[in-house]
This record gives sequence, C-alpha cells and structure tokens, in this order.
Amino acid sequence: MKKKQLYEELLPQMAALIGGESEEMSVLANVAALLKDHFGWFWVGFYLVREGELRVGPFQGPVACMHIARGRGVCGTAWEQRQTLVVDDVEQFPGHIACSTLSRSEIVVPIFRGNGDVAGVIDIDSTELSTFDDTDAEGLQQVARLIAQTLYQ
Ligand code: SME
Repeated sequence: MKKKQLYEELLPQMAALIGGESEEMSVLANVAALLKDHFGWFWVGFYLVREGELRVGPFQGPVACMHIARGRGVCGTAWEQRQTLVVDDVEQFPGHIACSTLSRSEIVVPIFRGNGDVAGVIDIDSTELSTFDDTDAEGLQQVARLIAQTLYQ
C-alpha cells in the first residue's frame, strides 16, 4: 500500500481512538503505539515543552534522552523554528542528538496549542537513510492537528 493511503487509513482510526479524550499521557501513548504499529518505524514518540525545555513524553522504541534544550538537536530546532524538519541523514544535521546509533533519518513535527505556542513535537526515527518525505510531513502535520484539537485548544 502506498504511504499516502496508509495515512488516509490511519487518520480516521486515530480520530476514533482519541476523540473526546482529555488525558494527555493516555492520548499521546496511544498515538505513539498506533503510529509504531501502522508504520513500523524504529522510534516514535513525543517531546513536550516543560519549564523552558523539551522533556521526553510517551514513546515506542529504545531508551531516549530525557531533556533537550530549545534550539538543540532536530527536536529543539523544530521547536525554535516552529516548523517540520525532515532529515535525510542525521549525521549531516549539525547538532543532531544521537539517542541511538542505529538512527539514520528523522522527522520532527511541532504540535501547536490554540494560542500558537508549541506544546511539544512528534519525533520519529528510522534506521534507514531518507525514510521521510513530504507525504510524511503532511500526514504527520494532520496527526499533530488532531492531537492539538483533542488536547491543546
Ligand atoms: N535525535 C533527536 C533526539 C531525540 S531521539 O531521536 C529519540 C534530536 O536530534 O533532537
């Protein structure tokens, strides 16, 4: 099945799963599980803005670093720049934070609160180079909007 179809199939499932829920950790844990299950990526999870830094939230995959400063790594840069970052080769990204040496490419998508602040980011890692593209960026931005509507309005 094509990637675009995988996202089209995923989004209604996710809306049904989290619609009407308000417990942040429960929603994010199930979204991480659904994404991991659906796409089989190496690491899928959330970093949440807490007291001026990013802290790891619910995730599926190997152990990850707990704290990321604003502007640091792919996650901290996506937060600071308020935009989705697609990294084809993490070794080419200045300041990339290697939580696992197996990670080769990455996508990070900010989640925006109703007031425009960044609530956190979706972070996904792959063991292959160049795994993520515009289809993933669009699909995961839809996921981020669904999470924001559910939790952060
Ligand atoms: N690689 C990320 C750090 C988080 S791990 O990938 C889980 C970064 O550079 O921000």
